[in-house]
Amino acid sequence: MQRWVLALLAAAVSLWVLAPVFSQEDMVVVDTNPFERPQRPPSIFSHDAHNEKAGIDDCAECHHVYLDGKKVEDENSADQRCSDCHELRAQGRVPGLTQAFHANCKGCHLEQKKGPVMCGQCHVWRPTPAAGK
Ligand code: HEC
Ligand code: HEC
Ligand code: HEC
Ligand code: HEC
Repeated sequence: MQRWVLALLAAAVSLWVLAPVFSQEDMVVVDTNPFERPQRPPSIFSHDAHNEKAGIDDCAECHHVYLDGKKVEDENSADQRCSDCHELRAQGRVPGLTQAFHANCKGCHLEQKKGPVMCGQCHVWRPTPAAGK
């Protein structure tokens, strides 16, 4: 076989193997990348396990779609980041990114009297791998 064919095959296989690493199944924290200078460690959030335990069936509970200020039923934005629509600062009726997360996450926890509402319960400090431990 030609060398480039092998290289192509190897690349395809590694993509196939790596892809699931970035799916919501393995998500354990909410990514802080969209924030310029995060002040807190990322909030813990094991996507699938959380939603199963909390009994949330509707993806639009978090991944919503709005049209003219009204939530659109039977549609979700699971293929988008929250930061695709929520900028760091509020834009009119669209809350800023931090506010969007807090209102969504804490809002439900307060309403249901279940789930963490204290800063340190979500933003859990832990040793970083860079510390070499
Ligand atoms: C229910 C979980 C939850 C609680 C409770 C919570 N947060 Fe957050 N917070 C989040 C999530 C999710 C984000 C989005 C990014 C991330 O993972 O940090 C966020 C983002 C932030 C950000 C912007 C990103 C950064 O690190 O600068 C700040 C600041 C912040 N939170 C501070 C607080 C403070 C202060 C409290 C307590 C008064 C608090 N949070 C309570 C979940 C929570
Ligand atoms: C309790 C809130 C919540 C529910 C319910 C929820 N998600 Fe998510 N999901 C999130 C958050 C928060 C993120 C991270 C978004 C970000 O970083 O901007 C996310 C990210 C994702 C991602 C991107 C994964 C990645 O690694 O980038 C996919 C795909 C996804 N969700 C699919 C779904 C589907 C499908 C459902 C319904 C079966 C669902 N979600 C229900 C909160 C939720
Ligand atoms: C496709 C664009 C879009 C995406 C993606 C999106 N939002 Fe929103 N969101 C909006 C708009 C538009 C509004 C303002 C609705 C209105 O007019 O009242 C809003 C409002 C909100 C509100 C306040 C009203 C409410 O429904 O409670 C919260 C909280 C919120 N978003 C959290 C989130 C979180 C968390 C994510 C990611 C999991 C997310 N949003 C993803 C467009 C989006
Ligand atoms: C629609 C309601 C709802 C939303 C939205 C929601 N949660 Fe929760 N969450 C719950 C409930 C209910 C529990 C308690 C589950 C149990 O232990 O029975 C919980 C528990 C948790 C826990 C405790 C550990 C665990 O995984 O069970 C964490 C951490 C958490 N939530 C983080 C978040 C973050 C971060 C967000 C926003 C990205 C979020 N939650 C959005 C309902 C919600």
